[in-house]
Amino acid sequence: MTGKGLEGVVAATTALSLVDGTAGRLLYRGYAIGDLAAHATFEETAYLLWYGRLPNASELAHLRAQMAGQRALPQRVIQIIQQHNKHAEPMDVLRTAVSALGSTGDFAAPPTVEQAISLTARVPIILATFQRHRLGQPLIASRDDLGHVANYLYLLSGAEPTFSQVRALDAYLILTSDHGMNASTFTARVIASTLSDLVSSITGAIGALKGPLHGGAPAKVAEMLEAIGTREQAEPWLRHELEQDHRIMGFGHRVYKTDDPRSLALRKLAGELSTEQDAEWLALAHHVEDVTLRLLEEYKPGHKIYTNVEFYAAAVLRGVGLPKDFYTPTFAASRTAGWTAHVLEQISDNRLIRPAAEYVGPFDLAYPALAVRAS
Ligand code: SDX
Repeated sequence: MTGKGLEGVVAATTALSLVDGTAGRLLYRGYAIGDLAAHATFEETAYLLWYGRLPNASELAHLRAQMAGQRALPQRVIQIIQQHNKHAEPMDVLRTAVSALGSTGDFAAPPTVEQAISLTARVPIILATFQRHRLGQPLIASRDDLGHVANYLYLLSGAEPTFSQVRALDAYLILTSDHGMNASTFTARVIASTLSDLVSSITGAIGALKGPLHGGAPAKVAEMLEAIGTREQAEPWLRHELEQDHRIMGFGHRVYKTDDPRSLALRKLAGELSTEQDAEWLALAHHVEDVTLRLLEEYKPGHKIYTNVEFYAAAVLRGVGLPKDFYTPTFAASRTAGWTAHVLEQISDNRLIRPAAEYVGPFDLAYPALAVRAS
């Protein structure tokens, strides 16, 4: 009997990423995530996921040109984004705009790597288009001389980002591009297994990622730190939550029963990125992490609940100047590379994903006429 939530079920074979929850190790196509985050760019990592090997210089230049050439959104999609209320949730706007791309005719089934490149290039543009709309600011045209991350930050603010901002966000996107059979990736693969189109798979995956048990946690980590406010308030605040059996955002993982390697890398990155005014916020984050880990062991002894990717993702995304409600959408921007790679892997050796369910309802009831049913 498998665990609830398909715990322990091997739902597919994949060559894309290895999530080793015992050793706290994450590989993309055999490369350690720490090496990629330290030396690669998001474009190189996306190429690795899509094509199965790292690009040479001319292949990387070609991919960068391809992605730059795919950034322009159809006017109709821009209008759909701009018809949203300025207070709409960015994840809802992203889900709607990606879905609208599906009716342009550019993403007809079967999914292709060209479609994967196009969609990955466009997610940051959708997000920046909504940001400019809700701030009442004019759209900014993408700059072909800027890479994927730098152009995203440029479109959001209108100012060219600093080297450290680009470096930090590039590393974040690399660290979160793929992660085995997580809920949103599984969603994408299930939809792909019906031979549906790429946009349908990614729209479903965006819906799955939005949930706070999955990708929706980083903004809630930032809100938690704001609610705690001071070192002195950390323990009472956290105890109050744990007494009510509430989940502490940014902690715990279905697979990692030791430190999440991405959390360790993001913790280091947050420290490097931290400026004077951030130092106090980061010091509080470190203190809250220490107290949380101690209390989780007290309230949930033996459950091996560690800091997950989202806790320091909040620190890094805050450090590069993103608004809180853009943390999960930016996670979606990185994971679009992984989702699309999994869709392509699924259809390369496909069989419809259709698990069984254990029926626990009644049997053979006699049909009662409407007139005799108790009101
Ligand atoms: C991501 O799967 C992936 O790979 C996801 C991800 C990716 O890259 O795609 O890594 C990204 O989703 C990271 C997780 C972000 N979510 C959060 O930070 C939300 C808080 N975390 C939890 O809700 C929880 O840890 C999950 C959902 C992440 C994992 O939970 P599981 O494996 O389903 O474990 P569970 O809910 O069955 O909990 C087991 C026990 C429970 O206690 P008991 O009922 O047995 O007494 O551990 C407790 C839980 O209450 N527990 C927590 C906790 N996480 C687990 N208690 C308090 N706070 C927590 N964070």
